[in-house]
Amino acid sequence: MNIIVFGKNGQLAKSLRNQTDLNAQFVSSSDVNFLKPREVTNFLEGSDPDLVINCSAYTNVVAAESDENSAHKINVESVERIAKFCAFKDIHLIHISTELVFDGKKKQPYVESDDTNPLNVYGKTKELGEKKVLAHCKKYAILRTSWLYSHYGENFLMKIYKAALNKDAIFGVSDRHANPTSAFDLARAINQITNQIKNGKDIKGIYHYAGSESTSRFRFIQIICEAMKEKSIINEFSIQESFTNTSSDGVMRPETATFDCSKIKSLVDLEQKTLKNCINEVIDYIK
Ligand SMILES: NC(=O)c1ccc[n+]([C@@H]2O[C@H](COP(=O)([O-])OP(=O)(O)OC[C@H]3O[C@@H](n4cnc5c(N)ncnc54)[C@H](OP(=O)(O)O)[C@@H]3O)[C@@H](O)[C@H]2O)c1
Repeated sequence: MNIIVFGKNGQLAKSLRNQTDLNAQFVSSSDVNFLKPREVTNFLEGSDPDLVINCSAYTNVVAAESDENSAHKINVESVERIAKFCAFKDIHLIHISTELVFDGKKKQPYVESDDTNPLNVYGKTKELGEKKVLAHCKKYAILRTSWLYSHYGENFLMKIYKAALNKDAIFGVSDRHANPTSAFDLARAINQITNQIKNGKDIKGIYHYAGSESTSRFRFIQIICEAMKEKSIINEFSIQESFTNTSSDGVMRPETATFDCSKIKSLVDLEQKTLKNCINEVIDYIK
């Protein structure tokens, strides 16, 4: 099966490449620039895939506020190009979305059918991207995830890891909650879905996929630092608790956007690992 994965050097695509046995063509922004959506169609027509996995996105939530045009091209217009191509060829699209399509006003975990209401530009473009997939595709999985981490790139875990090593001051807000998600585990779930598609199963739906524990940023940082201490990477650490009203970067985000992941359990076999175990697995790759 000819599988295209967009977003080659991002943390999720790297996890697909290195933490699973997925055999695919990985495509980067230097191969196809989503800022020029026409390139996306040209590339897909030239490569004639049987399945497309889109891990590309404009993911800088802060920068998106002042660069909506780029975020829109990458997260909406290029996604529409991919969706139209997949619909025309009658092939599956696996597309990744985010908890930031929600406003956080629901006090229980979000299910897939809950109304979306993004609070920031990034969330709005990701919501519109979802709508393009829903409008065009008959065979698709939109996987919404949250707080992705791995040892690749500049994600939240790596920032904390480096700050703890350098003994920099670490602040963590305790009034924002979500489910931190190992990019390795999400990649494994995508690989399972891919295998089902290869075996002839038709998939159509939005699915929530996130780590098993909902936690605050502050507690997430604590668990990362505890794991580093137990592995003798650091001797001590100190984290200052803060609150979104005093440590805001000016971007609106949901206070609490946790996921109910029951639906995806009918599709993939989920290993219910603790957050600490998932963090330990990632940190072992850094050492
Ligand atoms: N990170 C999170 O906390 C988080 C949370 C929820 C959902 N998500 C979603 O999960 C998915 C994967 O995220 P991630 O954390 O792996 O993101 P990431 O590490 O930031 O990687 C995104 C990749 O998108 C590609 N990209 C960016 N601009 C592009 C352009 N102009 N043309 C073509 N490709 C471009 C780049 O690929 P190359 O480097 O190969 O050029 C980049 O590495 C995204 O859909 C994201 O919205 C992420």
